[in-house]
Amino acid sequence: MAESLIVDQNLSKEEKYKALLPQIEALTTGETDLIANISNMVAALKQGLDFFWVGVYFNKEGQLVLGPFQGPIACTRIPYHKGVCGACYTQQQTIVVPDVEAFPGHIACSSDSKSEIVLPVIKDGEVKLVLDVDSDKLNNFDEVDQKYLEQLMKLVESWY
Ligand code: SME
Repeated sequence: MAESLIVDQNLSKEEKYKALLPQIEALTTGETDLIANISNMVAALKQGLDFFWVGVYFNKEGQLVLGPFQGPIACTRIPYHKGVCGACYTQQQTIVVPDVEAFPGHIACSSDSKSEIVLPVIKDGEVKLVLDVDSDKLNNFDEVDQKYLEQLMKLVESWY
């Protein structure tokens, strides 16, 4: 396992993703524990891309339940039909929200969160978890984030 993460903070966002994704893959290769791998993945995303909040909600017990994350404390349980995470779960697709205040039903875990991207991990037609990334800046997520985070969700799918 790699002992430290190397992501030059002078790189562009796309170059950071390109540097980070192979390191996350290397970091998790050979480890079969899902929680351990997801924990390192969110820590690597926080460190490499300096997100305000990044973490997962698992589909369990008929709702979305908080899993490993980095950032301020967050709400623990989200009903399937609530918030951006619920929309991602229900629609089974990535949701990009440039301005959380303009998203009906958005759940504000932190008033500092301004924009958000949520991506599903789908296995055998079922959403296993959603990855939620929050920014304290408006309109901070674009097609670059979507492209590379969707690639990362394919890696997570392979852990199931
Ligand atoms: N904003 C999310 C809730 C989770 S927190 O942002 C960590 C939502 O609306 O689903």
